[in-house]
Amino acid sequence: VIDVARKLVAPGFIDMHVHLREPGFEHKENIATGTRSAARGGFTTIACMPNTRPVIDTVDTVNYIKDKAATEGVVRVIPYGCITKNELGRELTDFAALKEAGVIGYTDDGVGVQSAQMMKDAMALAASLGMPIIAHCEDNTLVEGAPVSEGAFAKKHGLKGIPNESEAIHVGRDVLLAEATGVHYHVCHVSTEQSVRLIRHAKQFGIKVTAEVCPHHLVLSDEDIPGLDANWKMNPPLRSPRDVQAVIEGLEDGTIDMIVTDHAPHSEEEKERGMQLAPFGILGFETAFPLLYTKFVLTGKWTLGFLIDRMTAKPADVFGLPYGTLNVGSIADITIVDLENGHEVLKEEIVSRSKNTPFIGWKLQGWPVVTIASGKVVWS
Ligand code: NCD
Ligand code: ZN
Ligand code: ZN
Ligand code: ZN
Repeated sequence: VIDVARKLVAPGFIDMHVHLREPGFEHKENIATGTRSAARGGFTTIACMPNTRPVIDTVDTVNYIKDKAATEGVVRVIPYGCITKNELGRELTDFAALKEAGVIGYTDDGVGVQSAQMMKDAMALAASLGMPIIAHCEDNTLVEGAPVSEGAFAKKHGLKGIPNESEAIHVGRDVLLAEATGVHYHVCHVSTEQSVRLIRHAKQFGIKVTAEVCPHHLVLSDEDIPGLDANWKMNPPLRSPRDVQAVIEGLEDGTIDMIVTDHAPHSEEEKERGMQLAPFGILGFETAFPLLYTKFVLTGKWTLGFLIDRMTAKPADVFGLPYGTLNVGSIADITIVDLENGHEVLKEEIVSRSKNTPFIGWKLQGWPVVTIASGKVVWS
């Protein structure tokens, strides 16, 4: 018996951008630990990025992930395939075979496709198969050696900064290529005012573009970084307060379609290498809903319905998934949330194999207490 008195009953959350690290980086996370971390966060469907080792560029690797998820995972896992073989930007993967194997789209997340010709070819091929291209937007020549955003924090600590244009140049390029090819083009982790402006403009012109934003880019700016602690290092980096305002407005006016976590576990040892050397990325699953509930719903800025919609029905709609709503006959993906009791983010309660989050010690409300995936209780 599950007691839901004074609890919110919502459709299971959907996260279209996560890194499960298996195969190849199991010291950071694996499918068993990553899906349990997702379940603790109230997520019942997650789409995993292909920057594993091997990368998800063959049918064999897609099948490996599907098998592992079926036997060891506790929530639904949908893989993305790579755009280019080994994410090296040199040769397209076999899109048709990957589609047949069950990928939901193609991406070189973590790297980005640097060549415009390669991106255009990828979009044309994806369009012919009715599949989306998911883009990590980053011009490599503008970001080399820069661990944080260009701005106040970088200046104060004498660090090279990642400029906003490194993201927006790719967004601008890719909406034009999307227009030319007719593909569904989805922009990963939007973090700048310029990107929001370009996506808004593209949508006004009827270009098939959709976009996502992460909780950390909605609640933190570079001014919040307390010091040289790599648990505040992620890609894209925390931007200026002006950018934070712009992505909030972008989500509110529908320019940005959905919330994703970009759950990116890295080991403590890796993060202890320091701001300059540590890998980019922070955990996402377990704090996403409480963070946004506390920051935007409790303050009256958003309705609860708006937040839930951007984490359930909206991503399902954009990617054509039969989940994200609770109707008669729906698959029983259900998240039950305690909206009343505050609880601190405690390191020892983190379910993920990694602990790299800037939110330890934050007192948040809106904790998922029971998660049901395909009718089975997977977290309580
Ligand atoms: C991601 C990772 O660690 O794989 N890191 C990150 O900071 N977001 C890659 C990515 O999403 O670009
Ligand atoms: Zn990325
Ligand atoms: Zn990512
Ligand atoms: Zn606790």
